[in-house]
Amino acid sequence: METIGQDILKRTHNCGQLRDADIGKTVRLCGWVRSYRDHGGVVFIDLRDREGITQAVFDADADKHQAGMHALSDSLRNEWVISVAGKVRSRGADRINPKLPTGGIEVLGESLTVLNKSETPPFSPDEFTDVSEEMRLKYRYIDLRRPELAKALVLRHKICKTMRDVLDDLGFVEVETPFLTKSTPEGARDFLVPSRLQPGTFYALPQSPQLFKQILMVGGLDKYYQIVRCFRDEDLRADRQPEFTQLDMEMSFVVETDVMAVTNRIMRTVCKLAGKPFPDDVPVMKYSEAMDRFGSDRPDLRFGMELVDLADIAAKTDFGVFKSALAAGGCVKAVCVPGGGEMTRKETDALPEWAKQFGGKGMAVTKVIAGGKLETGIAKFLTPQAGALIEKTKAREGDLLCFAADSYKVVHRVLGELRLKMARDRKLIPADQWKWVWITEFPLVEWNAEEKRWDAMHHPFTSPRPEDLEKFESDAGNVKARAYDIVCNGLELGGGSIRIHDPAVQQRLFNLLGISEQQAQARFGFFLSALKYGAPPHGGLALGLDRIVMILAGGESLRDVIAFPKTQKGGCPLTEAPSEVEQKQLTELSIRLALPAPKDQPPGAKS
Ligand code: AMO
Ligand code: AMP
Repeated sequence: METIGQDILKRTHNCGQLRDADIGKTVRLCGWVRSYRDHGGVVFIDLRDREGITQAVFDADADKHQAGMHALSDSLRNEWVISVAGKVRSRGADRINPKLPTGGIEVLGESLTVLNKSETPPFSPDEFTDVSEEMRLKYRYIDLRRPELAKALVLRHKICKTMRDVLDDLGFVEVETPFLTKSTPEGARDFLVPSRLQPGTFYALPQSPQLFKQILMVGGLDKYYQIVRCFRDEDLRADRQPEFTQLDMEMSFVVETDVMAVTNRIMRTVCKLAGKPFPDDVPVMKYSEAMDRFGSDRPDLRFGMELVDLADIAAKTDFGVFKSALAAGGCVKAVCVPGGGEMTRKETDALPEWAKQFGGKGMAVTKVIAGGKLETGIAKFLTPQAGALIEKTKAREGDLLCFAADSYKVVHRVLGELRLKMARDRKLIPADQWKWVWITEFPLVEWNAEEKRWDAMHHPFTSPRPEDLEKFESDAGNVKARAYDIVCNGLELGGGSIRIHDPAVQQRLFNLLGISEQQAQARFGFFLSALKYGAPPHGGLALGLDRIVMILAGGESLRDVIAFPKTQKGGCPLTEAPSEVEQKQLTELSIRLALPAPKDQPPGAKS
């Protein structure tokens, strides 16, 4: 291959840069051939790089020098890498492309060098919608040429830089913490790494740097942050990846409002950078209010459809489902779906089955018709109470009332989900709205009915409110945590708490969670020991960076804002990880698989 001279690689501009003001300049651009069209002796090339697209033109008639270049340009294929030099000229009023920022100009090519050819790509970066995600991830290097993806990664970089700048201004220090470490309980399963040097033992990849950042506070670091990868082996969804990034923070000598103010300041700056609004005062809502009104601790406040408590009205009806739920100490609530009366019978009949995935036993519905009357569904049970019901739910003619009767937990889960489903299905979410809210006063622990024990709602290092300490053993369910989550448009973007810094309180919480002193020592002995040597009062929070970029970039999945994400099954189609390993590696690690041995086992090896 011939050597390419420096002058050919020396770009004067990028492909998104040239404007009318550049007309007449001699420029050089490098990039990928997005498309080429031969219009009877004139070849038009769309040249693409990270920053945009510029049109280059090679005209056979222009001059002798051009003629050779024209022949070469005619041989180009999509995704070849080329260098073009030429003069910027106006496209002329009738040929302006208003969709491109560079659409007013083109480069009349004088020289063209093919820097590299490309095989016919499996898809074009422009055919985004027609290509399966598996395919896009397998050939991610082609997908990365898609302007939306490149833009999201640039935004991600700028957001990280802004976060670092804000925290640096505030006196925070970025400190790295280990990846090969011990389990940190954030509620997910650990990824384990076997140790070769200490056979039979394992490192756990951190679910978060929680204990290290608290130990940094004991070490006097005062204000710590880290943009850090976290690893959680959990079932994946659009807003969850097995490895994801947090902006993790911890500070000493603070209370809740201090941590919240730092977070607001970061998010305000980041939103400004992305051209999105952020309120002067972020509303604060207690967990109990969020659950009562929206059936969720991350309420989407862009639309109404709040949950309405109907215990009083339900008690007066003859509907067995309502009565038995109330008799069992549960509740009856409804959601009024605006205009839902137009839903077909088939659609409303599907709701009871839909509710089952969230633990519901069914879902009763009725429609509000003219004259303050109810029709279909459970109308016959409710007719004597129709007036009171319509008044309480503020239902109007044409609306659909959906009821859930069950335990508090099930009713709120089902109706919270129904609210979201109806808003999505019926397109009730207004575009370009940004509804931020802090959720506070979470319960410290929640009852795990299956295992018959209390589980920490956040993690077991979260401080209870001091005034609730006396309820610890007698009324644990009503102890409130000094925890806070920041939520935007129904997405939990961050969470944190003031921590326990008193070893005695930490031990009491372990007792409540059924973690014996011995178990606590084995799992977090190093941390409990640190608490004994002058731990300052401290607290912090972690923001989900991927989620923040996703929401600000307008993406629908974390995969839209991560360069090399994992699929739903935790795989990487590009590298084909996870993959089998050679028997030799397993032997070195003293590991014998309970599964059939790897295919690439060397002959004669024992399985
Ligand atoms: P938490 O577990 O709430 O808190 O995590 C903080 C934030 O991280 C994001 N997040 C995720 N993003 C993508 N994929 C995932 N699987 C995933 N899991 C969590 C969310 C979440 O709000 N150590 C504590 C923080 C603290 O107490 O300071 C912690 O990790 O946006
Ligand atoms: P059933 O009496 O079981 O035939 O139910 C009558 C109606 O009530 C059906 O529409 C069910 O979907 C609905 N239903 C059943 N259980 C519940 C529940 N726990 N909450 C709300 N509706 C329910």
